[in-house]
Amino acid sequence: MATRNIVELGNPTLRKKSKPVVDFDENLGQLFDDMLQTMKEKNGMGISAVQVGVLRRALIVEIDQGKYLEVCNPTILETKGKCKNQEGCLSIPGFYTDVERPYYVKIEAYDRHGKKFEFEGEDYVARCICHEIDHLNGILFVDYTKAGRDYKKKKGVE
Ligand code: NI
Repeated sequence: MATRNIVELGNPTLRKKSKPVVDFDENLGQLFDDMLQTMKEKNGMGISAVQVGVLRRALIVEIDQGKYLEVCNPTILETKGKCKNQEGCLSIPGFYTDVERPYYVKIEAYDRHGKKFEFEGEDYVARCICHEIDHLNGILFVDYTKAGRDYKKKKGVE
């Protein structure tokens, strides 16, 4: 396992759309191991592959204390409710703002071995899943609020 460098706001890679995972091989396992170590070291609650510079649809979310869900090629099947709460991002250190997200989300996805599964999450878990899926599509939480857009403007980045 190794810690990888985090791609930060302003780097155009963060705005690219990630491609589906096709090879559920050793490299993918290594990627997940490294993502987890990087996320833990930075005290994050979630991380996506693009944040370590890999444009593949892979992400990790902490679903309980010390319990992590590895996700490949997620599809959102259902969302319910709304919930506004504070969000941050490893790629945007030091900035936090309230973002509205679904209270509940149900996804279909694949694990690191290519096995399909469904997962339901509520509250911060749903928030985290939505935030990380956004990363796979080049979307950042600062895009959603005035405070976030002002922050980008102040920093002179997209
Ligand atoms: Ni993030």
